[in-house]
Amino acid sequence: MNAAIRSATRTALYHGLSVVGIYRGYQGLVEGDMFEMSSRSVGDTIQRAGTMLRSARCPEFESYEVQKRAVENLAASGIDGLVVIGGDGSLRGAAALSKLGVPTVGIPATVDNDIACTDYSLGFDTAVNTAVDAITKIRDTASSHGRNNVVEVMGRDTGHLALAAGIAGGAEYILIPEKPFDIQEICEGIERGYASGKTHCIIVVAEGVGGYFGPDMSLYDSIGFQIGQQVRKRTGLQTRVTVLGHIQRGGTPTVKDRLLGTMFGSRAVEALIHGDTSKIVGLSGNWLCLFDIEEVVSKRKPIDEEMYRVATLLSGM
Ligand code: F6P
Repeated sequence: MNAAIRSATRTALYHGLSVVGIYRGYQGLVEGDMFEMSSRSVGDTIQRAGTMLRSARCPEFESYEVQKRAVENLAASGIDGLVVIGGDGSLRGAAALSKLGVPTVGIPATVDNDIACTDYSLGFDTAVNTAVDAITKIRDTASSHGRNNVVEVMGRDTGHLALAAGIAGGAEYILIPEKPFDIQEICEGIERGYASGKTHCIIVVAEGVGGYFGPDMSLYDSIGFQIGQQVRKRTGLQTRVTVLGHIQRGGTPTVKDRLLGTMFGSRAVEALIHGDTSKIVGLSGNWLCLFDIEEVVSKRKPIDEEMYRVATLLSGM
């Protein structure tokens, strides 16, 4: 996100605009937590993860009253246009502000990569690379010890990250919320795999996979542990579980994320300047595009069926 903030700031300054940074997203907007930015404010940030403007979940922003307060704060601060960087909730907030007459352009940023219309959201590539690096390291022990390893990756409601990381990490099974699975069939496949000479089995599971496997598991146990426990119980084989968690949301951003952030940030500001508002910047194929904000927030992004088909035909072989 820092690459996008840096690029948006410097593009706006280049075009002779003033730039105001809003701390902690909608929370800061509602509280009026803002500051004037200069080119120096964004110096030395392109290589940094996270966001120099900090971030906050702001569930109260769903309320119309709170949105109105935000609009008043923007007007009082002389802000004529808004760039919103974030995932699903942030972009829904951006759509609401657009409807209230604030010229707004959104930039998709979420490791879940679940924003409709755009092929990529900021942070996804870095998170996939982190997950694949972890799976590669886990594979070393899995092979030498002949073990099953369950690796749980992020993905609140979707399996884009699990699918990409699972394929690139060479996982035997990839479990995602979009596709039902039969745990018994998987366990039988694992046993067949060892019988045919496999030395390990890696199962990548998206955290958003639903499932509750019985009274000996707490409903609050992460799905990775639930799957691990079932595999151990049904196959009798040693099974280890790793929940990658927030390491997927940090670390040096990849080149792809830095380039995308830079291009998204610049395009968002130039769209505002040209009055091309109520839009989301995104990537389609290799093209930088603007999508209608209402269309983006009203759709669910489907997983790549071809990737899933290939992952499935490779699984367990
Ligand atoms: O939506 C992005 C995401 O990283 C999800 O994959 C994950 O479930 C969630 O955010 C974690 O949110 P928090 O950091 O607030 O626990």
